[in-house]
Amino acid sequence: MESSISKIGVFTSGGDAPGMNAALRAVVRAAIYYKKEVYGIMQGYEGMIAGDMVKLGARSVGNILQRGGTILKSARSQEFRTKEGREKAFINLQKNGIDALVAIGGDGTFTGLHKLLEEYAIPAVCIPGTIDNDIAGTDYTVGFDTATNTAVEAIDKIRDTALSHNRLFFVEVMGRNSGYIAINSGIAGGAVATIIPEESMTLEDLFAKLDEGGKTNKKSSLVVVAEGSKLGGALELAKKFSERNNYFDIKVTILGHLQRGGAPTYFDRVLASKMGVAAIEGLLKGEKDVMVGIRDNKIVYNDFDTIMQHHHEIDSEALRISKILSI
Ligand code: F6P
Repeated sequence: MESSISKIGVFTSGGDAPGMNAALRAVVRAAIYYKKEVYGIMQGYEGMIAGDMVKLGARSVGNILQRGGTILKSARSQEFRTKEGREKAFINLQKNGIDALVAIGGDGTFTGLHKLLEEYAIPAVCIPGTIDNDIAGTDYTVGFDTATNTAVEAIDKIRDTALSHNRLFFVEVMGRNSGYIAINSGIAGGAVATIIPEESMTLEDLFAKLDEGGKTNKKSSLVVVAEGSKLGGALELAKKFSERNNYFDIKVTILGHLQRGGAPTYFDRVLASKMGVAAIEGLLKGEKDVMVGIRDNKIVYNDFDTIMQHHHEIDSEALRISKILSI
């Protein structure tokens, strides 16, 4: 592929997600396949500002495909939010001869990168890597499938103990602004209700539904709550419901960061591999300011501005069936 690009910088930024290593491996190997040099920038924008960059070869990314986390490490950089921080970062890119970038991360990463591109001319392609699946322009983000499987595995285990004790569990899953993990793990884990940031369920609706459990002699129940629920988190909801409930013994489990770790599923490995290759091919074909996505199983390049102006709408079909099934 003919392109004037010679050295590509790749970094992971924001919350890590399972499959980021698989994406990195694909970026590095695709770049080498097309005879380009690749530099790994450590700790996201922090490493760009500090000039912490290492040359990567095909063997540097051996044996990482199946590993969670990110070998490049990650950070949420405050300094990169400033003009001075971005200037330092760009000077370091120039010093190292880096003339194109691949960013693997979520919306915070993309916003930062877009600011850099407004100020300096360097082509960049983003790969959506976040467990939240909250990025517009792609059906799936890298890490979402693994995190949801982790949540379902935990919910299955909680269900065993819930049933043994006649208990109602409020299980909190990650998702600051997005109910994707919640709605899908709720369906797969058989939740009686799922509380997500995108939907305006009232406390009364929720409690009425849970009261039905007592009336119909339900033995155990499980409510999945997304971290960003507008009704409050799992602890708060459990406390409020326990003030009016005398049927269930109520417990809370907050799954937290365990959803971010672990070996990526086959789905995330393949998705990350496709996106990594697409990122390099996109750059070499002249893409400058885009995010790779997968829509209807096809790779697409999304114009960056469009992505940033939209939120990934919650899957309305998943929402609908979760209501039908949770009786
Ligand atoms: O964006 C991914 C995510 O895991 C969110 O679901 C969660 O709210 C957030 O990151 C937690 O971030 P941190 O690890 O910085 O506390």
